[in-house]
Amino acid sequence: MKRGLFITFEGADGCGKTTQLKLLAEYLIQKGYEVLITREPGAKGLGEKIREILLNYDGEVSDRCESFLFLADRAQHIDMVINPAVSRGCIVLCDRHTDSSVAYQGYGRQLPVDRIKMLNELAVNGRHPDLTLVFDIDVETSMARVGQQKDRMESAGNEFFNRVRQGYLEIAKEEPERVKVIDASKSIEEIHLVVTKLAEDVL
Ligand code: TYD
Repeated sequence: MKRGLFITFEGADGCGKTTQLKLLAEYLIQKGYEVLITREPGAKGLGEKIREILLNYDGEVSDRCESFLFLADRAQHIDMVINPAVSRGCIVLCDRHTDSSVAYQGYGRQLPVDRIKMLNELAVNGRHPDLTLVFDIDVETSMARVGQQKDRMESAGNEFFNRVRQGYLEIAKEEPERVKVIDASKSIEEIHLVVTKLAEDVL
């Protein structure tokens, strides 16, 4: 039986992970793999409604409420999209997952990191990524890439995004087997080569 694979793409807004996800998908499809591209928050159905609230609600949102909304989306995503795809032998490429909650709500919003991790466990119910790629870049560059049109999360400010970046680096230090940090200041082609090498290692 084919064994499915679960790869997550992480990093601050504007780090270039979505471009790299698409390039890796093309590479894998060309090699004959069945690939599913998905994202958090808001893969489909109910998730899209949660995404709309998270990114565009213009009233005040408490940090804990924000955390639970991301977690609710994740639980639904795991049950309805990720697990079924991995079980049928698909390579699932997911734009953001549990480490976004740790980096953004834990380090960024400064909620207790250990509790966010515990709640993540509840949301994923035993499913963990085989590989996580963290695209690391300095905050000035990533915010310049995001531009003037910022959503609710992107408007959190440079100090927030510096904490998010440190959070990701901390996660990578704690779980070096699963989490690989990639220098996202390099060219798209150079980064793609690194990404394919890391993906091949887990295939
Ligand atoms: P999105 O438009 O998908 O941004 P990106 O292309 O950078 O992934 O918006 C997702 C936003 O939600 C992004 O700012 C990161 C944030 N986020 C969290 O704060 N916590 C989470 O658990 C997740 C999944 C995302």
